[in-house]
Amino acid sequence: MLLPVCGTAGRTRRFAKGLKHQLLKNALSTPRYGPSIETQSPDEAETGERLNDLMRDVQRTTYDDYDHAMRPVHAKSHGLIEGELEVLGNLLMTLAQGIFARPATYPVVLRLSTNPGDMLDDSISAPRRMVIGVEGERLEGYRTQDFVMVNAPIFAASDPAAFAKNLRLLAPTTDTGQGWNKAFSAALRGAEAAVEAAGSESPMLTMMGGQTLTHSLGETFYTQTPFRYGDYVAKLSLASVSPARRALFGQPVETRGLPNRLHEEVIHSLREHEAEWELRVQLRINPETMPIEDASAIWPEDESPYVAVARIRPPRQPAWNEVRARQVDDALVFSPWHGIEAHWPLGGVNRARKDAYGAAADFRSELNRCSIAEPTSRPSLAGGSARTYGTAPGREGRRTRAGAPLGASVASRSTRACAMQPPERRAA
Ligand code: HEM
Repeated sequence: MLLPVCGTAGRTRRFAKGLKHQLLKNALSTPRYGPSIETQSPDEAETGERLNDLMRDVQRTTYDDYDHAMRPVHAKSHGLIEGELEVLGNLLMTLAQGIFARPATYPVVLRLSTNPGDMLDDSISAPRRMVIGVEGERLEGYRTQDFVMVNAPIFAASDPAAFAKNLRLLAPTTDTGQGWNKAFSAALRGAEAAVEAAGSESPMLTMMGGQTLTHSLGETFYTQTPFRYGDYVAKLSLASVSPARRALFGQPVETRGLPNRLHEEVIHSLREHEAEWELRVQLRINPETMPIEDASAIWPEDESPYVAVARIRPPRQPAWNEVRARQVDDALVFSPWHGIEAHWPLGGVNRARKDAYGAAADFRSELNRCSIAEPTSRPSLAGGSARTYGTAPGREGRRTRAGAPLGASVASRSTRACAMQPPERRAA
């Protein structure tokens, strides 16, 4: 089995031995998955509707501004990348579960983005996001297994009701202008630094824009919420492991005067070098310290470390271009609910996401007149380099139509033909 390692060879061997011992010990005591591990709260349906309404408000605002419907969160993509996911061989029985049950290779599409539902300058700090769509086994009518991840181990809110409160604060900032947002973001970064200096982190502050801007390709991403992992339960993460990328980990990126800097870094980096990530799994071995219903709780890594189960190696490629933006930003939806039963999303936050992703995608599909569908065959992203970031619909900048009545029914204003083009097929 491959292990995440660091340091000198001697230390590495001792670390690997210790980890293997811990994993074998965990294997004996890992509690099994059962539907009774979830606890629904009575107001979940109502909270879900509130969240969907807030998301819809954000989408209406940006549609008014850009004349293009976008995701209500994570609107700005920095990288649209294709590659392959290779499931590792010789995994321990507790890790060889679901799509990782046996060695296999699946095509993947990755979308890197930042949190806000607006096309903000990269100088406005926001968490980086990563989604992986793995085409493969089919269950419940879905063709893909998606993993939706963020570059922090926990969510900003414990449950959907707490998230709805956060979102009520964030939603009105969607349309408050870049100047205000930049100042707000800078102030929050100061506040987050102060909280960190005091020895802790504030997920709420980082979610609202208090995060230091670092290289997307050096990051580690997390599902934050738990999933069924075959017979067990786990959270997943994706860690950059190529030496060139690891050197970027935590490195601040200068964005002053460079509104698309994060995106340019990704394009430049994947033009020059292949990337390599490890997909890792943290098994839930202790129900006391690893809650299902609290998405803001860190599951202690000293009790159960993240362990590699697969590897993703995207080759050198144009990591973003206008056609890819239409193929992925406009014509795809990634959701934690696209998957197989063996990776069933768990906990209140995941339950609230079940309708939200589909509803937001329907809005995009309807307004942009683009059908959004899961890939029916191996996805193939367009070659060709980007001209500039602002040459794809929605990225051209704010284009409010003069005279359009404020708050007019979005449906009545949908006049543009679909901009999506079918994915290019690679020569066999
Ligand atoms: C109750 C909680 C949540 C709600 C209501 C929610 C809702 C949404 C919605 C509506 C979208 C846009 C979907 C689309 O238009 O295609 C989205 C995207 C996304 N969400 Fe969430 N979300 C929640 C929690 C989370 C959590 C815990 C994560 C952590 C991994 C997360 C990560 C993402 C990412 C990375 C995207 C971008 C997906 C893409 O690139 O297509 N969300 N979310």
